[in-house]
Amino acid sequence: MYLGSDALALAPFTNLIAYLEEGDWVVLNRKGASFYDKANQPVQRRAQRVAAGAFLVEKGNHRHFMAKEIYEQPEVVGHTLTQYLDMAAGRVRLPFEGKIDWASLSRLSVSACGTAYYAGLTAKYWFEKLARLPVEIDVASEFRYREAPLPENGLALFVSQSGETADTLACLRYARQEQQTVLSVVNVPTSTIARESDAVAPTMAGPEIGVASTKAFTCQLTALACLALAAARGRGTLSAEQEARHVQSLIALPGLMAKALALEPEIERLARELSKARDVLYLGRGTSYPLALEGALKLKEISYIHAEGYPAGELKHGPIALIDEQMPVIVVAPHDGLFEKTASNMQEVAARGGRIILITDAKGAAECGIEPETTIIMPDMDPAFAAIVYALPIQMIAYQTAVFMGKDVDQPRNLAKSVTVE
Ligand code: G6P
Repeated sequence: MYLGSDALALAPFTNLIAYLEEGDWVVLNRKGASFYDKANQPVQRRAQRVAAGAFLVEKGNHRHFMAKEIYEQPEVVGHTLTQYLDMAAGRVRLPFEGKIDWASLSRLSVSACGTAYYAGLTAKYWFEKLARLPVEIDVASEFRYREAPLPENGLALFVSQSGETADTLACLRYARQEQQTVLSVVNVPTSTIARESDAVAPTMAGPEIGVASTKAFTCQLTALACLALAAARGRGTLSAEQEARHVQSLIALPGLMAKALALEPEIERLARELSKARDVLYLGRGTSYPLALEGALKLKEISYIHAEGYPAGELKHGPIALIDEQMPVIVVAPHDGLFEKTASNMQEVAARGGRIILITDAKGAAECGIEPETTIIMPDMDPAFAAIVYALPIQMIAYQTAVFMGKDVDQPRNLAKSVTVE
């Protein structure tokens, strides 16, 4: 008998798992487990068998789980798409169709932690632009205590890989208490957050072992993009043709991701340079802004290099003071409607001798108006969901830098995969 905070942690020992409910306690001995509820009354908690091999995870030919998980992304994003798309009809088809009345919503409240929060922040742009649905988003540790007023019959969305994060779960319970409909995007379908939700939007990332989230993030983005499209259809802000076009862009994602993974040799060269930096600044606008935050988080987490993500337009309000010949500035800028604006921010950095690393496409590289120290040229794609593909070079930069520095990328110091305490 074993006790653990995440089914994945118990995988090497058993595939028979019983979940405790809030306030439960348990007595374990060799023979079995006796469960008690919060009133100290004996209760039954049924053990469920998790699919054979679901948690038997090996590194395969990869040096680290993180590398394996980065490389799995075309496949798992493809699996996730199959849950949400009717590919033949060119339509979004949600696994919980009919449970949410998108048209009646006045607002969507989102909360999550860490990388999952950045997935939620990206989705804010999609829900607002495509579905004209106002989104408020906060990190769960703030949301849970600020007594946010929530609209009557509102929808609260939670994003979590593990489905066990304590702060996110506390927000979910607050939302429920405030009579919100609870929707969660989770990777572990038997997790507490999934069990306590009215509707579950699954990600099909499979078990993620590396502490720094990679494939769970892009699967969350994929599921959220589909939810935003479903919301847009439900709210009448998207024509059938527009929907079909977006669905085509989503179907193209796995192929584009495979192309992005082929950029590894260039990223490896870049990582050698980055490993000498003390600080790194990441910039982006629109959906590239959450990616800038995610890039900085990934680099901090596994290489221990100090990094910050900033909206490119905020540069002039502070961080520009930090720019000198030492500091690499990574600019995430697909050639989208905001490219010109980001390019002008980049020129401001260049004028101050800043070292620019530009992640863009061929058009962006041709039109950036400066000569970056390094340019990573991504394949051409629909800018609407480009963030899902641009996440890959961001992850690979952090991974290669940390590997070059000899860090333990799968288990960085002081971090835990599932944070089940406050
Ligand atoms: C921890 C992990 C992160 C993760 C965050 C939220 O900090 O190290 O990778 O993004 O928790 O976890 P969740 O399971 O809720 O997505």
